[in-house]
Amino acid sequence: MATPQQPLFDSTRFDPGRTDLPPVELVKSIGRASDVIVGLAESKGRPTLVGATAELEKLAGRGIQLLATLVEQGAQSRVDTIACLNLPGVRVLAVGLGDSLDLSPEDLRRAAGIGVRHTASIASPSPRRIVVSLEASSDAQLQAVVEGALLGSYDFVPLRRHRPTRAIESIGVLSSPRASQQALDAGRSVAHAVCVARDWTNLPANLLGPSDLVEQARSYLKDLRVGVDVLDEHALAKAGFGGILAVGGGSARPPRLLRLDWHPRGARKHLVLVGKGITYDSGGYNLKSAESLLTMKHDMAGAAAVIAATHAIAELGLGVHVTTYAPIAESMISGNAYRPGDVLTIYDGTTVENIDSDCEGRIVLADALARANDDLPDLLVDVATLTGACMIALGTRVGGLMTNEDATADQVLDAAEIAGEEFWQLPITSQIRSQLSSEVADLRSKKDKFGGALFAAAFLQHFVADGTSWAHLDIAGPAWNREAAHGYVPTHATGAGVRTLIALAQSMAS
Ligand code: BES
Ligand code: ZN
Repeated sequence: MATPQQPLFDSTRFDPGRTDLPPVELVKSIGRASDVIVGLAESKGRPTLVGATAELEKLAGRGIQLLATLVEQGAQSRVDTIACLNLPGVRVLAVGLGDSLDLSPEDLRRAAGIGVRHTASIASPSPRRIVVSLEASSDAQLQAVVEGALLGSYDFVPLRRHRPTRAIESIGVLSSPRASQQALDAGRSVAHAVCVARDWTNLPANLLGPSDLVEQARSYLKDLRVGVDVLDEHALAKAGFGGILAVGGGSARPPRLLRLDWHPRGARKHLVLVGKGITYDSGGYNLKSAESLLTMKHDMAGAAAVIAATHAIAELGLGVHVTTYAPIAESMISGNAYRPGDVLTIYDGTTVENIDSDCEGRIVLADALARANDDLPDLLVDVATLTGACMIALGTRVGGLMTNEDATADQVLDAAEIAGEEFWQLPITSQIRSQLSSEVADLRSKKDKFGGALFAAAFLQHFVADGTSWAHLDIAGPAWNREAAHGYVPTHATGAGVRTLIALAQSMAS
């Protein structure tokens, strides 16, 4: 009999719907701001301030030349720099915007994020009222500023006994009268979803097992018209999900398959999302190293991304049918754990020789992708912290993109660009595909160390029906920031993938 686990997760301590983001609103003037974020760009060889300069100079009083004073304080136009100037009653933060006044949404997202993150990090006797003044004129620019500002304000607080009182009281965004409230609301929905995905991913595995993540999703989605269906271990066995059951078999906390459905009237396209939900990846009998084990609570970042994106898609009322699967399991070692050498039967009947128990991600995804075919998607996208090999290839800030057709790659890359996330296409070659054969089963789950990200994608592709457009996003790198915060990206969980998925749904909406 398994020893009872601590009944650890008290959801009253952590309600995802109440992720602690400050209120954000459109403002017409600096008003009673305590901090104002402006930009500093180099234009035609000269430093140029972007933002409510005249209003600030008036506030500062006679004789203050804001630009000259900021430059004296060390303000630069170089991207990712910030300088601070205390004027009577207001603090001015000047963020470097680079050498052009032609600012993309991502330039603005970054600048707003750096400004707000910096404000939150300065010790201050009272909560701050921040105004972001970066001349956002189009809706896309305004949405990006709102996203950057809120994402930059993120802090992972639920597990601290003495929660910090919120350092930021409110965020105002100064924008042209043409920018709409709708763009602000969209920015808020997107940022909220990203922050919820971050929170779930930051939660340690003792506090977030498979059924806990399911309950979190249920509670997060309860006010939206999103169908929630959950298969427990008995239902999984009955329906033949041999991959999810094998991977989850070693844990005292049984696996789940979560299915969400957003089906608004008039939707013409069907997008199906699949996210890897390994709440802890010990590696199983192919046990990971001590160093790798330490952060493997984040191996459910793909599931967090698809669930959170579904929330934003429904909250924004996007006119596209979205079905979302999260195969959720904890990969542990015990008398019930699956072994290297075992042969597993996937939902579609494919038999798989399990070469290495640390390949658990592709095994649970195989079950979920095979099930997803039943929904006849127009586009099928999976998101997973799948391979260390992808990080070796692309580094920690760029995700891998693999597809079964080039048009789909373009569609996903376009969405990622709008969302401000970076993916790079890798190929699935016929040579790699030829490595899938096994001597004892239909497929083997691993070959050698060369092209590991490609092999994993080739394995997944086997479970996608012929003729279905499919994209695989390997977010092993960008899902977890091992370094200090940068831009609007905090240290640890980043919420990678959420914004691209929402933009993709938007591109398919009628
Ligand atoms: N969860 C890992 C992938 C990963 C590694 C994510 C590092 C984030 C950071 C995955 O389940 C895994 O263990 N993959 C193995 C596959 C190998 C055994 C073929 C890997 O990448 O080492
Ligand atoms: Zn693994």
